[in-house]
Amino acid sequence: MVSAIEDPNPEVAGQGHARLRTSGIAVDVGLCAEEAAHDHAGHFLRVREKRPFVILKLAVSADDKIAATDRKPVAITGEAAKARAHLLRSHSDAILVGIGTVLADDPLLTCRLPGLEAQSPVRVVLDRALRIPGTSKLVHSARTHPLWVMTSDMSDAPAAMKLGAAGTQIIRVATAKSPPPGLDLKAALSALSERGITRLMVEGGAKVASSFIACGYVDEVWLLRGPDAIGADGVAALDGQPLSVITQSPRWSVRATESLDKDTLTIYRRA
Ligand SMILES: NC(=O)c1ccc[n+]([C@@H]2O[C@H](COP(=O)([O-])OP(=O)(O)OC[C@H]3O[C@@H](n4cnc5c(N)ncnc54)[C@H](OP(=O)(O)O)[C@@H]3O)[C@@H](O)[C@H]2O)c1
Repeated sequence: MVSAIEDPNPEVAGQGHARLRTSGIAVDVGLCAEEAAHDHAGHFLRVREKRPFVILKLAVSADDKIAATDRKPVAITGEAAKARAHLLRSHSDAILVGIGTVLADDPLLTCRLPGLEAQSPVRVVLDRALRIPGTSKLVHSARTHPLWVMTSDMSDAPAAMKLGAAGTQIIRVATAKSPPPGLDLKAALSALSERGITRLMVEGGAKVASSFIACGYVDEVWLLRGPDAIGADGVAALDGQPLSVITQSPRWSVRATESLDKDTLTIYRRA
């Protein structure tokens, strides 16, 4: 075992790491510390803050909308960007949406990249009053792909039993005592972390994205931007908040950008 005690005055060997000499051998410590911390952030957060690492992914139009009028889904990005989002799903322990997205889009939320289907994350829905339809794709597939519905302490017990019988796991959490309204995100994240989730992908919609940002629980934002505008009556990406709270804020810095055909992926990290 190499001991660092022999040299109490380590020299600086490069940015972010130091060189120690022990038994005549130079040992660099702290190499790639930032990358390692990022790779293990979910584990550290789970232990220290009882919550997973949270990545908010949003596909936005050129004018910062995520859906058309009346919350109708619309193709915003192309195939390459969609494939990137599915790859992110496969790297996540769980994927979370609000009940608004389930009612508007009836999504499946699995990873459908060839060969990676088995890497689909646990699907999680925030649904205070158990409005999720028994006919939805999520409930229909609950026996093959885990579905966790987070609901309030007060929601209907028979509805919960029906969903349970269809293979859904019901997780009861408190409702928020202060705005933004909805389930208490701290309690929801803690319940997910207790169940082993270290990396959570939040896929919207607008209200859920806005709540996560407002409560400060987003560690990274993946913004997939398409080239076309939707128009003023489209659904704003962060509900009541402008997207500039991320894109123009000193609280966020750009970690990476990538072109995906006509679309752009920008990854923001909390500064
Ligand atoms: N382009 C994209 O990347 C993308 C991705 C996903 C969705 N979308 C679009 O987004 C639209 C849906 O967005 P949305 O804003 O209507 O619905 P949403 O954000 O999916 O769901 C909002 C609902 O979730 C429930 N909820 C429970 N706890 C919450 C909390 N702490 N914070 C916020 N919500 C909480 C609330 O209903 P209860 O009070 O009943 O629980 C709330 O009304 C659709 O048009 C969909 O197509 C776009």
